[in-house]
Amino acid sequence: MSDTDVLQLRGGAKVDGNIDIKGSKNALPKIMVAAMLTEERCEIENVSWLSDTRTMTELIEASGGTVGRSTAGLSIEVSTLGVPDTTAMREFSGRSRIPVLTCGPALHRTGEAYISSPGGCTIGPRPVDFHLDVLRRLGAETVDVPGGIQLSATRLTGAKIELPFPSVGATEQFLLSACLADGDSELCNAAVEPEILDLITVLQKMGSLINVETNRAITVTGVKRLRGFTHRVIPDRLEAASWASLALATDGEITLDGVRQQDLATYLNTYRRAGGDFEASPDGTTIRFWRSQSMLRPLAVETSVHPGFMTDWQSPFVTALTQADGISVIHETVYEDRTGYVDALKALGANIGLFTECLGGTTCRFARGNHPHSIVVVGPTKLQGTELHVPDLRAGFSYLIAAAAANGVSTITGIDLLDRGYENLRGKMATVGIDFE
Ligand code: EPZ
Repeated sequence: MSDTDVLQLRGGAKVDGNIDIKGSKNALPKIMVAAMLTEERCEIENVSWLSDTRTMTELIEASGGTVGRSTAGLSIEVSTLGVPDTTAMREFSGRSRIPVLTCGPALHRTGEAYISSPGGCTIGPRPVDFHLDVLRRLGAETVDVPGGIQLSATRLTGAKIELPFPSVGATEQFLLSACLADGDSELCNAAVEPEILDLITVLQKMGSLINVETNRAITVTGVKRLRGFTHRVIPDRLEAASWASLALATDGEITLDGVRQQDLATYLNTYRRAGGDFEASPDGTTIRFWRSQSMLRPLAVETSVHPGFMTDWQSPFVTALTQADGISVIHETVYEDRTGYVDALKALGANIGLFTECLGGTTCRFARGNHPHSIVVVGPTKLQGTELHVPDLRAGFSYLIAAAAANGVSTITGIDLLDRGYENLRGKMATVGIDFE
């Protein structure tokens, strides 16, 4: 563990400052994959230099493309696309979940693709069965090979596909493959997150014919070829909510620049219900967050796919709810195992319990599956600094929030994992007045 991987954080201060929110960590890498669908030059603006950006840069260069950094962001040109090198793909897939999304470009331009066992965070098994089903339905042949799956297709042909769950990744897999397939495709029960709509915007600029239907199905008419594009990535609504939750938990005040209010709508409503408040600029790109009353109110919160309360907003917000006056109930319905950070909150003194039942809302697909996916928080509790180890990206930020709200010093290890999702994290922490070294 490198010495940069450990953070000493002294809690108790009220945060106060401005944070500039840049391009979405979960939109940008998929837009980089879209650039692999054309031999023309693509320009991407509002780029966050995070690990997925670096991994996709290396993958594109290893596949024969070029990626240039400019002041505005990234320029990508994949005039030729080589057949995926399985060893390289295994290495890239060990660092990120994005490489699995390169099947569409690879199949369309080389006739071959390779999926390694998925990487990414430690939040439940990260399967790709929905992705494989999409690719097979569009005509890809698959063969199990050591360490992964080899795919091949002379042509991809449009198909009508239904997802068992509105998976963001599987929807992206569909979009990046169906746009150049022969004929019409339809994806029922698709995800329609803002990051998905941003990818659709890019594909539309490239010449794709894509419709989001009122029943949340996505229909695509395949085209022969796609052009280059210039695109400004939507802001990161996950990072925005993380910093806002920090202000709520510490009774501080944070102003975020570069955001989009409409992408945060459900978060903002929940923020107000908990006793926070916010003020947005006329165009909704600057939002100031603070706590509107001395004691936060307890809530029942259920995570869901868009436009619901996003699963990535859950752990930072639950951390703030440890400071609410009463009992809060949180039901995580997207991931079966995204409550691991609760142990750390308990270590800091939070009064918090996990349940395998679906509490506080509807019965979800994890019911009776023995998954600890419901949380009950009894607040308020005074948190006391302690030793913490970061298990995954979003949980990691909730450790920062908890440590900042706690009395005394916390020693947080595994902090480098946060660099996957938060650019210039230490600089931003210093900006808002968190006392750390
Ligand atoms: C994306 O992950 C995001 N990651 C996640 O953010 C986010 O939490 C998630 O969408 C939900 O919004 C990126 O965009 C890189 P899913 P993804 O496919 O696409 C199951 C972060 O912190 N599933 O919508 O992998 C899966 O296990 C990350 O920034 C299958 O069963 O999420 C999960 O329970 C964390 N089979 C559910 O669907 C599959 O083939 C939702 O997953 C695919 C998914």
